Amino acid sequence: MRNVELKARDLDPARTLERALALGAEDRGEFNQRDTYFAGSRGRLKLREHVAGGSPLWDELIEFSQELIEYSRADETGARTSNYRRVPIADIGPLLEALDSAYGTLVTVSKRRHLLIWEGVRIHLDEVEGLGNFVELEAVAEPGSDLTAEHEKVERLRAELGVEDANLVATSYTDLLLDTGEGAPAPGADELLAAAEQVMHTAHVRYSHFPVGAALRAGDGQIYVGSNVENASYPQGQCAETSAIGALIAAGQTRITEVAVTAAHMDFCPPCGGCRQRLAEFADPDTPVHMGRPGGRRMTRTVGELLPLAFEFEPPG
Ligand code: THU
Repeated sequence: MRNVELKARDLDPARTLERALALGAEDRGEFNQRDTYFAGSRGRLKLREHVAGGSPLWDELIEFSQELIEYSRADETGARTSNYRRVPIADIGPLLEALDSAYGTLVTVSKRRHLLIWEGVRIHLDEVEGLGNFVELEAVAEPGSDLTAEHEKVERLRAELGVEDANLVATSYTDLLLDTGEGAPAPGADELLAAAEQVMHTAHVRYSHFPVGAALRAGDGQIYVGSNVENASYPQGQCAETSAIGALIAAGQTRITEVAVTAAHMDFCPPCGGCRQRLAEFADPDTPVHMGRPGGRRMTRTVGELLPLAFEFEPPG
């Protein structure tokens, strides 16, 4: 299935609701949704649940009370197209556990959604926990449509509701919650991620086929890189971050001021526990660690966030 959709911050949800109703949009009531996102390597995957507390007819309005949604979408402001697949689920609990153990849960997004429909276009007035209010317009495309009609409807509705350019949002609620910094210019992060991605191709990964690249900015401003090096005797393998630390030390440096990690098969590859300790040896708690792709989706956390209560040791004497 395909959608033409648009998302914007809504600074005045009461006014948007008023305008939608004045246009003749049909009020379908309110409900609470919880989406759990998993760290997929290609498409995006989320489990959606409708939780109690909606307006009285909410269970009649919702097609599936629990479903798995697989989708892909370009990040663009303004109306964009998204491809998706919906799979109704009978019992979400075991699936949540299975996906969490296979891929890891990225984030959970909880929101209260007020749904209206205008000429087949869904209007979502969303109040998202931790993010605030948004308006979303979604035109589900007819099979075989060239999307012109859907784009026109979304644009017209956007004008009628007074959605301003400055409030358009290119990214998903997940990215906003993860504070991926996507779209925000961060030349340092992108430069470092590009170095990590480049060295990732040198990884010796005969056993896991999971190439990782790491890039470290040192006290001298230079970038030192490393990739993972595996071994026939598995425990002898070494992570990309550790290889990069070796390069930095071999160059006579002892301070890490910024870190980037890129993996071929993961959106955001968080350094393993051991590497967090190794990075902490040369970094400060507020040293940023960027995970993601140069110019693309990115998540940034500090060394202190990744390793609270790091082990420190002052040698005696
Ligand atoms: N790996 C890294 O290089 N860095 C990380 O932060 C996580 C894991 C490597 C180790 C191994 O070669 C492969 O990824 C699969 O675990």
